[in-house]
Amino acid sequence: MEVKVFNEDWKIFQGDAVVFFTFEEGLEELPHEVLEKVKPFAQDENFKGKKGEILKVPVSGYAFKRIYIAGLGKREKVNRNVAREVSAKVAQRLLKDKNKIVLIDVKKAICSQACSEGLVLGSYNFDKYKTKKDEENSKGWEKVYFTNADEKKVILGRVLAEAQNFTRDLVNTPPNEINPETFPQIAREIAEQYGFEVDIKDPCWVEREMPGLWAVGRGSKTKPRFIHLIYKPQGEAKKKIAFVGKGLTFDSGGLNLKPEQFMKTMKMDKSGACAVLGIFKALGELKKLGLAPQNVEIHGFVGVAENMPGGESYRPDDIIKMRNGKTVEVANTDAEGRITLGDVLTYASEQSPDYIVDMATLTGACVVALGEYTAGIFGNNEDFVHTYWEISKKTGERMWQLPLDDELMREEIKSEVADLSNLGKSRYGGAITAAMFLQEFVGQKDGNPIPWIHIDIAGPAWARKPYKWNPKSGGTGFGVRTAVEFILSEDQNS
Ligand code: BES
Ligand code: MN
Ligand code: ZN
Repeated sequence: MEVKVFNEDWKIFQGDAVVFFTFEEGLEELPHEVLEKVKPFAQDENFKGKKGEILKVPVSGYAFKRIYIAGLGKREKVNRNVAREVSAKVAQRLLKDKNKIVLIDVKKAICSQACSEGLVLGSYNFDKYKTKKDEENSKGWEKVYFTNADEKKVILGRVLAEAQNFTRDLVNTPPNEINPETFPQIAREIAEQYGFEVDIKDPCWVEREMPGLWAVGRGSKTKPRFIHLIYKPQGEAKKKIAFVGKGLTFDSGGLNLKPEQFMKTMKMDKSGACAVLGIFKALGELKKLGLAPQNVEIHGFVGVAENMPGGESYRPDDIIKMRNGKTVEVANTDAEGRITLGDVLTYASEQSPDYIVDMATLTGACVVALGEYTAGIFGNNEDFVHTYWEISKKTGERMWQLPLDDELMREEIKSEVADLSNLGKSRYGGAITAAMFLQEFVGQKDGNPIPWIHIDIAGPAWARKPYKWNPKSGGTGFGVRTAVEFILSEDQNS
């Protein structure tokens, strides 16, 4: 979809619709000519401009057919998260009414980037597999123009949101299409399209080099693969940032098979990996626009596997000697994410990055702790956690810090027969014990642990129903925008 900036007077716009934002009870601040037209309709429908309220007004005498007024709610509460949310609602309404060419005046909504993000995210739809396509289709757009907007920010917003939509598409794609064999092909396509380095390791390599990833994935017909994607700026990079994604294309639980209500939707267990690909999609688009980072090098690491029961599956009681030499007793084959990520974190650490961020749909316990809209954020470096968390407040990707409790909880993941168990002794604090398991595989650089954060996205990676800027149930693309914003801010600071 084409997103552009329109620098002329809205009155001469040619298209289908023009949209203005308003604060609650702030209608009088609309341009005079607009107010005159809108007022009778607003009174008639008791439109106040509450958050998400939308008023449609047919007009004549212009080269467009209708004006929409979108409520932002209380003036003092408006911020970029509100602007993004309302813009997404506007997008859905405009598509529903079959508008194809529209102009959006972002003046009152303040933040051009958030408006552009909301518009693109709110237009999302996944009807690829429907033989009769949905009526409100994002392909309904011909052009979206913004006015009173910062052009660079509009473009950045579009790029970030399109990358998030790309991640949503991947997450929503079913496990009979995306599996450990086909997922790496998508990574390769991105690399070829944008000129990134990519290294894809075949199952033989995984069997030899990543015993944990191999164990988890060996029961599937499509055996595990490993992907390493690299973005390098033109000049010398000052920092290296690594992103690690959990890539279970389907998690049946393995021999510890999940009951039916928990198995459904487990195609989403690849959400972390899909977010990593989304980051590279955004970097690629920024590169095409000449806006890509110049000071930071970005590495993406993904272990892809399918957790299936079968004659070749790994078993409870197995002991695996991991890539870093630590031994893991398998207590439950459904706690597989941490085993795959252990080896991938080791590999990522061997590349000596300055930071590691992992994103994983790791535990149901995290959803129990924080609810389904908030990710758990953990880390071995408080400054790093703080920096990342602050950025997430601007992107509206909700996160909340949970502790790594070395003092009292480390013994939870001890095993009688191996260095570690893949399951806590008690059910309590399951998100924490999983994160502490991962920490065992974060390596050192110059004698110090590499600053690392772990984001448990089991809740927010998937929407059971539409909310905020997620217009459809399904994959949300959570994590992509915060990651890219972090990259851009590190690029600025180096
Ligand atoms: N992929 C799941 C975690 C999950 C649960 C993600 C719900 C998204 C929504 C993970 O591999 C898993 O199965 N975890 C188990 C761990 C248990 C066996 C200790 C869980 O959360 O029940
Ligand atoms: Mn599992
Ligand atoms: Zn899983």
